[in-house]
Formats: sequence, structure tokens, C-alpha cells
Amino acid sequence: MPGVVDGVPLIIDCDTGIDDSLALLYACASAEAQIVAVTCVGGNVDARQVAENTRAVLELAGCEDVEVALGREMPLVRPVQTTPETHGPRGLGYAELPPARQPLSERHAADLIVAEARARPGELTLVTLGPLTNLAVAVLREPELPRLLRRWVLMGGAYRAPGNTAPTVEWNIHCDPEAAKVAFTAWSDRVESRPVALGLDVTERAKFTPEHMVRLARRAGSQPEDATSHGAHDDRSVASNPIVRFIADALRFYMEFHSRYDGFYGAFIHDPLALAAALDPSLVRTEALTVDVELGGTLTTGETVTDWRRVWGRPPNVDVAVEANASVFLDRFIERVGGLAERLVNVAS
Ligand code: BDR
Ligand code: CA
Repeated sequence: MPGVVDGVPLIIDCDTGIDDSLALLYACASAEAQIVAVTCVGGNVDARQVAENTRAVLELAGCEDVEVALGREMPLVRPVQTTPETHGPRGLGYAELPPARQPLSERHAADLIVAEARARPGELTLVTLGPLTNLAVAVLREPELPRLLRRWVLMGGAYRAPGNTAPTVEWNIHCDPEAAKVAFTAWSDRVESRPVALGLDVTERAKFTPEHMVRLARRAGSQPEDATSHGAHDDRSVASNPIVRFIADALRFYMEFHSRYDGFYGAFIHDPLALAAALDPSLVRTEALTVDVELGGTLTTGETVTDWRRVWGRPPNVDVAVEANASVFLDRFIERVGGLAERLVNVAS
């Protein structure tokens, strides 16, 4: 497939979360993704619930052998914030998964990131899908981390787009702006490998609709009508395929949220787009820009202030995604995750 990199060793740092869970499914469904570990940070739900959700989702996807490590349980300096109205009280919308069977890693997420990066210098891609707390701790412990990693791809920020938490602020940066500042600063002299940032500018183009859900169910060999369950809050999907059922129930919550706040019945699947772009950079077009994080605003703390006109005269420090091929991504998501759902059922029967 053009643009798809062969064998990408990944560490995924996430705050699972509905769209994080879809990103994990996408990674598990992608032949070229070698998931080295998944590290957990608080954000959509608290960090312990993230660790629970992450393991349950990896087990659902047949990736139960992946090491899952818990990170710091609060932002660097601010209180913990979560968003149950967006992702549900436990972070997975209306979906319910069996409790995770696999134990958590004994390593701290930040130690894991540092140790793996030191063990394989220049090889690992780090994909962050939540607040940047774990990454900030890791880089404070190992300032060489930006040189030890091959790439850092993040979902975070709102560059030329409105925010989704405050008028100019995106959720992942909002939760721990100091951590974002630490991480961006640590990468600021990495001109040969700037972080690739997918903000709301592009992730809000990845709109997953009920029609996509029907296509995914069909691809998985499930009945399309099993996939969509509009109705009472306890109206769970009746799909026999566990992955289809999970996605339908998780996404129904997310779609209801978007219909209340964003004016359409569907869902932005931010994190899967970032994960997909880490595996296939051709999904996005980026521009090298100078970005800084507002820490002292009265209205704008957490804003990813972007120097579009280069008035600061500082060198670019972030490759900001300005365009994304959303339809290729959505087709690929359906093909891969639907294909995984079909394969796992066939293996089990
Ligand atoms: C980001 O915030 C979270 O709610 C999502 O999981 C995504 O990572 C979008 O702003
Ligand atoms: Ca997330």
C-alpha cells in the first residue's frame, strides 16, 4: 500500500477514552504496527480507570500480551480533570467489557518510555493520545529522549481551529499545559525530527457516522442493523461480534455527545487518525511552525499559540498537520478494524 511504512515499533501513551480505544483497536488491526507497550495517563478518566480500560480493550483485540504501564496519576501542577460527559462515567461510553485479566506492568510509564527508547535508540515512534504528563516526566528524567526516539506524533492542540474545551484550547493540552510546554521545549532543537501534531484542525475532519458503523459491521460479517442502536440509554447493541458490539455501544455515547455539542449525530475520531498518521505519514500534510503553549492566560491557558506569520523569528519546532485525507483514513479504519473483528470471531469459532 503506498505510503505505508514497513514495521513501525510503537509506544502508545493514552487516556482511554472512547476514541483512544478505537486507536488501540486500529493499532492491533494494523500489520505494520509493532506495539512495544501502552502507557496510561489520566485525562478522559482517571489514570487507574485508563489502565483498566486499556487492558480490557487490548484483550478484546487479541493483544493481551502487550505490556501496559500506569503513569503519573495527576498533572504536573494542576488538579485532575476528567470528562465523563464526553466519554461516559468509565470512559467507554455505553460499552461494557469484562474486567481486564492481565496484570499491569510493574514499570512506571515514564520509566518504561525512557528504558525502551534507550534500548532501541532511533527506532521507536511515540504516539501520545492524551495529556502530555507522562512524556514530560520521561523527558525530565531523560533529557536525551527527543534524540533517542525516532518520532513523536501527538493528538493535541488547536492550531488554526477553535478549541473544544475553551474557545482556543484543546482538551489534551488543557489538562496539563505545563507538561505540554515541557515536551515542546524539549523537542525545540530537534530540527531533523520535529514532533508531528494532529490538532483539531485535522482530527475534526475524521467524522465517523452511523453509515460508517454499518459499513464496519458488514466488513466484520455482522448484521448491519446490529451495529446501530438509537434509543433508550440501556439499548445496547445486539451484535454477536464482540468488537462490533463494543464499538457500537462506545460510539453511540460519543455520537450523542457530538449531537448535543457539535450539531451532528456522529463522532470525531481524533486519536485513531493520529495513530494512523504515525503509521502512514502520507495521510496528513504538515507545515513546520513555531508553537508555544500559553500558561499564564486569563482566558487562554493551554492554547497552542502558533506563529503563522513568523513574527517571533524563532525556528519552527512542530510539524503541524494542516490537511488530512480523512476519507482514505475512514475507509482504512473500517477495513482494518472490521477485518480484525471478523478474524477474531473466526479464530474463536
Ligand atoms: C482529545 O481529547 C480527548 O477527549 C480525546 O480522547 C482526544 O484525545 C480531543 O480533544
Ligand atoms: Ca485521548
